[in-house]
This record gives sequence, structure tokens and C-alpha cells, in this order.
Amino acid sequence: MANGSDLESWIAGMPKAELHVHLEGCLTPDLARTLATRNKLPPPPSLSSLTGSGNTSSYDFHDLTSFLAVYYPNMTVLQTEQDFRDLALSYLTHAATQNIKHAEMFFDPQAHTSRGVPFPTVVRGYRAGIMTAQRTLGISASLIMCFLRDQSAEYAMATLMESLPFKDSIIGVGLDSDERDNPPAKFAAVYQRASREGYLLTCHCDIDQPNTLTHITQALTELQVDRLDHGSNVLAQPDLVDLLKSKNIGLTCCPVSNSVVTADFKGPDIVALLRTGVKVTVNSDDPAYFRAYLNENMLKMATATDLSRAELIQLQRNAFEISWISSWRRSHFLALLDGYEKSTLHDHDQNHVEGIGNGAAGEVLAA
Ligand code: ADE
Ligand code: ZN
Repeated sequence: MANGSDLESWIAGMPKAELHVHLEGCLTPDLARTLATRNKLPPPPSLSSLTGSGNTSSYDFHDLTSFLAVYYPNMTVLQTEQDFRDLALSYLTHAATQNIKHAEMFFDPQAHTSRGVPFPTVVRGYRAGIMTAQRTLGISASLIMCFLRDQSAEYAMATLMESLPFKDSIIGVGLDSDERDNPPAKFAAVYQRASREGYLLTCHCDIDQPNTLTHITQALTELQVDRLDHGSNVLAQPDLVDLLKSKNIGLTCCPVSNSVVTADFKGPDIVALLRTGVKVTVNSDDPAYFRAYLNENMLKMATATDLSRAELIQLQRNAFEISWISSWRRSHFLALLDGYEKSTLHDHDQNHVEGIGNGAAGEVLAA
């Protein structure tokens, strides 16, 4: 078996896609300090209770509630178009060093408009960061606008209306923040309208939340989502697993985030879903807070479960397959990943992922 650093560099070299990362969750303590100084604001209170210093400092929390209690107040340092640009560019710069080829990034407009930052400032800033990264680093990225589920459906609908002039810069909509007592069904009309406007649809179903299976069912049947964020509790209900497979709906799982906001990283559940043929993927969620970008999340799965290297590749194949990109770019990235698999894995390591992918290709070859 390969040693740890070999595995780490093999994961680092793999072409990857990230489908579940919150731009506001990429605000590192360092960047928060820089922006506070630039905007002549006091540093957010969470920075004074930081452990460590400089690049190694980290925020202090232990579950979803304490995380969100640090997360939203920190955003006050984001004021100008340039601030949002710098935030997007700083994440994409790091992502490019991890050989991430494409990222689909959540943002929370209401966390900014509710404190007086205009919607266009947010989107124009993020868009400028994406354009610069695309031009200078060759990484592609798109934006997914999340509604805050602990706010009203009317506020979500108003935000949806506000986004329409920027439709070309936003690929889809999602639902995040505090899930307790905020079921997906609350936003059914907003999602219907978003779909009519041409947005793709996804929705957080956070891990081990009260009524999680009801929420997953609502997301799939009432919101008619194209993807689910987290959602691995679905494993407890086989008919929902079948529904995911029949509709080719993928899950964007975040193992390190799971281990911070719940008691467990849920690796075995992610592995079980992968092995039944669900399009599960591995992602970082809020990397500045959970102190793990995509490579670290992949490494967690590689070291704390019995996944083979072929299965680790399959996680990334799933990510490109369920990503919201054109079919020709998807083919390009999948070919890149196939090339990586062929050049780095021995024959006996390859193509032994039972029940996953390649079924149709096999049939064509056999015909
Ligand atoms: N917003 C940012 N990260 C989140 C998470 N893990 N769950 C719900 N909302 C979020
Ligand atoms: Zn998330």
C-alpha cells in the first residue's frame, strides 16, 4: 500500500471539481483582518478569540449553531465590490493550487443586502474575481445564489426578483443556513419561479437535522431539485436512494464539515452511497472555517475509509458528471481524469468500482 505522502500528492495531482463551497465560508482570518483595515472597521469580534496567529489562526466553534454565530458577523468586513472580488479570487487562487479545474460556488446575497450592501455590488464583485481567475489561472467557476432558509419565503422571492438582471452570471439557486423548522417546502413557490427563470436547483439537507428524511423528500418531490447538498442521511430510506439513482441526482458531501457540525464525518455513509451507484461527490463547504479545502477532504476519505484509488477517482468523475457545465467541457474534464487514472494506476487498480458508471459503455463494446 502506498505511503501517506504518496497518497497526498496523488490526490493533489488529480484533476478535480468542487461543487459545494460557500464563498463567504472562504473568508480566512487573514483576509477578514485585511478587509477590516481597508474599510476602516474594527475587526469582527470572532477574530479576538482566535486560536493561533497569522496563516495558522482559526475560528472557534464546535457545531452548526456556534459556527453560524461566528460566520454571519464576520461578513461585515465585506463592503465594496473589490472586497467581494478579492474574496472570490482568494478562494479560486487556492483552488487552482489544488488542481481544481472547475468550481460552483454558493453565495448568500441576503447576508449582505440585509446590512445595506446592494445586490449588484455583491454579484459584480464575485463576477470580477471569477473573470480574473479564469483569465490568469485557467480555472472556471460559476455562482449559485442561496436563499437563507431561516428568513421568510417572501424575502427569498424578493431576492430572486432582484437577481433577474444578473441571470447570466448565476447558474442556479440553493437553500442554506439554519435548517431547524425551515423545511424545503417553505420555498416551493420560490423554487418554481426560479426554475421558470432558467435557474438550476439545489438545496441543503444538512446532516442529522430533525426531520431530515422529510426534508430530503420535499427537496426531491416539491422543489424538484437537480442536486442535493449534503443529503447523505438518504441512506436510511432505500426508496429515496432509488429515486436519486433513477433521476441521476447527485449529492455534494462535505466530510470534514460533517465532523465539525455533527459527531461524525459520515465517511462510511458516503462510501455506501457511492457503492450503490449514487453520484456522491466530496467537497469543502466552508474551508476557511473548517480548515480543509478539497484535497484535505479527499484525503480524509482516502485515509479514514476503505475507498480504493479507483473509487477516489470515481468521486471526481461523479463531480464532473453532475456539474453544471456544457457537455463538451464535461467530456474534456472526464477525459483528463481518465488520462490521470490510466497514467497513475496499475491495471488491477482500475475499473473495479462495482455498479458505477461505464455500464452503458460496456454494453456498447459487447454489442
Ligand atoms: N452556510 C454556510 N455553511 C453552511 C452549512 N454547513 N450549513 C448550512 N448553511 C451554511
Ligand atoms: Zn454548505
